[in-house]
Amino acid sequence: VQRTLVLVKPDGVARGHVGEVLRRIEAKGYTLVALELREADEALLAEHYAEHAGKPFVQPLIDFMRSGPVVAAVVEGQRVIEGFRSLAGTTDPTTAAPGTIRGDLARDWGRKVIENVVHGSDSPESAAREIALWFPAL
Ligand code: GTP
Ligand code: MG
Repeated sequence: VQRTLVLVKPDGVARGHVGEVLRRIEAKGYTLVALELREADEALLAEHYAEHAGKPFVQPLIDFMRSGPVVAAVVEGQRVIEGFRSLAGTTDPTTAAPGTIRGDLARDWGRKVIENVVHGSDSPESAAREIALWFPAL
C-alpha cells in the first residue's frame, strides 16, 4: 500500500476544517499513520516547496504556510496519492469541483497566493521525500 503526506494548511486550520478533512480521509477508508499539529519553520517549508524555488508565488506561499499552525498527517491506503488528490480537487478553488475538499471549503480571497485548505503529495517520489521531511522518525 501507498503512503502520502497530507497537510491541512493554515487557512483550513483557522477556519475549523481539520475535522472535516480528517472525516473525508477516514470515510474514504484510508488509515492515519501519523498526525500532528505544528508550526512549520522557514527551512522546513523551503525544503518542502523546493520544486517551486524561484517561482513568484513561492515566498508568499511560505509566508502563508507560516501564518498559523498546520496539521501534518501521513495517510495510508491503496493508491492514496492519486486518491487523496482526487478528494482534494484541483489547485485553484475557483474551479475545483463541488464535492472536493477545495471545491467545497476553499475560497479565492484574491491574495498573493492561492489558499486551498490542503496539500497532498503528487507522486511516490514526492511522498517519500515529504514524509521523511515532516516525520523523520517514521
Ligand atoms: P499542493 O497539494 O499544495 O502541493 O497543491 P498542488 O499540488 O495542487 O499545487 P502545486 O504543488 O503546483 O503548488 C503548491 C501550492 O502553491 C498550491 O497549492 C498553491 O497554494 C500555490 N500555487 C500554485 N500555483 C500557483 C499560482 O500559479 N499562483 C499562486 N498565487 N499560487 C500558486
Ligand atoms: Mg503540489
